[in-house]
Amino acid sequence: MCTTVDDVTNYRFETFSPAFDEATGAPDARTAKYFAATSVGFHDSRSTEESLKKRAQRAIADGRVLTAVYAEREFEHAIDPDVPVATFAWFEKLVNVGGGRLVPGHLITWVTVRPTHRRRGLLRSLMTSDLAEAKAAGYPFAALTATEGGIYTRFGFGVSSWSHAIEVDTSPGFKMLREPDRRVEMCDPGVLRELAPDIYARFMRTSPGAMERQQTYIERATGALDTETGEADRGIRAALHFDAAGEPDGYVSYKFAGQSKTLPTIDLIDFVAATDDAYASLWSFLAAIDLSTRVTFKESSEDSPLPWLLTDSRRVKTVGTEDNIWLRILDVKSALEARPWFVPGELVIDIDDPLELTGGRFRITSDGENASVEAASTSTPADLGMGIAELGSLYFGGADPVILARAGRIDENVPGSAVRASAMFSLGRLPYAPNGF
Ligand SMILES: CC(C)(COP(=O)(O)OP(=O)(O)OC[C@H]1O[C@@H](n2cnc3c(N)ncnc32)[C@H](O)[C@@H]1OP(=O)(O)O)[C@@H](O)C(=O)NCCC(=O)NCCS
Repeated sequence: MCTTVDDVTNYRFETFSPAFDEATGAPDARTAKYFAATSVGFHDSRSTEESLKKRAQRAIADGRVLTAVYAEREFEHAIDPDVPVATFAWFEKLVNVGGGRLVPGHLITWVTVRPTHRRRGLLRSLMTSDLAEAKAAGYPFAALTATEGGIYTRFGFGVSSWSHAIEVDTSPGFKMLREPDRRVEMCDPGVLRELAPDIYARFMRTSPGAMERQQTYIERATGALDTETGEADRGIRAALHFDAAGEPDGYVSYKFAGQSKTLPTIDLIDFVAATDDAYASLWSFLAAIDLSTRVTFKESSEDSPLPWLLTDSRRVKTVGTEDNIWLRILDVKSALEARPWFVPGELVIDIDDPLELTGGRFRITSDGENASVEAASTSTPADLGMGIAELGSLYFGGADPVILARAGRIDENVPGSAVRASAMFSLGRLPYAPNGF
């Protein structure tokens, strides 16, 4: 890869897979130094030998492809020049584009630039070449989760799903309108290593925008990894829900946060329900845990049925909302044809892509199941005009074109077409992806 970044420093770009040194059994020097750089970028503590090893193992399990940027040392005593000044990584995971249809997505992560090399175009160089390569490799879209909200729209990413932090008052009086089944059992959290992947795979097919999760999640749910410390967490507890045939179809992994908080609180680490019964029963179980009067969950869905399950919906408070998955459509036709279209109709859209990876005028014709997406001539008037980032926001049916038009993010050329688009883009359930990367 060559650079277009500032001409003062000589940068070298290398792309490689994380690996172990056979002789020492530890991550090889290039991998270890890559992680030294990401720790600087994300303000993480320096890794111990053990946590570094686990990090490398998880990266290998995810099939991550790493890019590192090295700079000549400009002054004495600076960090070792073999520690990259910028990092970037991607890996492939299946994404539910609606109706349980799974499509491989290009997931971007570990984007860091050392403070002394920032704002010289390193991110732009890494991102634009990576998106072009992902497009050439045939991915219909790329995705990322962002530490800051102001960076990625310029590269064509739009927020496509959100995560809600909730606090649930489980003090006496917590009651469900209908008693859920009681098919919940506590289990050793280690059991989740075997059962959670299948439960998650079932859940993923029910939730538009959900995607295969990286290795960290199973480590966290089982208590093998506390993401704050990089060590095991012996405070984790877990429970499973079983369907009528005795098959596990939901689980929760949680931790008592201690008496020191204002209220005795249980923090959820992971909560995955493949069915609505599992969802309701696991909440009923959590509310019944003694010596706690509050349950918190940072990664709840936007359309959680929990308030509707309770006799008093005020017990569920949303205390925070954050953008979660940012989606970058790389190929308008293949991305739109991959997802289902539950409402029949026709829509002509004009898409502007500042990076010129895709875009143009397209006619979407939906038969209520699938859509064909064809290039439309410029003489055909477009119903709606928007940037590629806005199309990313609509893709999973999470953002409403009517609101985007009100915000001036979509041009509604034909009155009523934003309402039509709203119905056509809906996937029946709001998108929810309980993961970040
Ligand atoms: C965010 C970060 C990767 C930017 O890297 P960088 O090499 O300085 O970015 P570039 O010089 O290539 O800038 C590219 C564009 O993004 C903009 N930009 C960069 N960082 C930004 C930020 N934090 N907020 C808003 N805009 C930002 C630049 O102004 C520039 O805009 P333009 O090209 O449209 O004029 C870097 O500051 C960093 O490592 N931060 C800490 C870790 C982090 O937050 N990573 C993101 C993980 S999701």
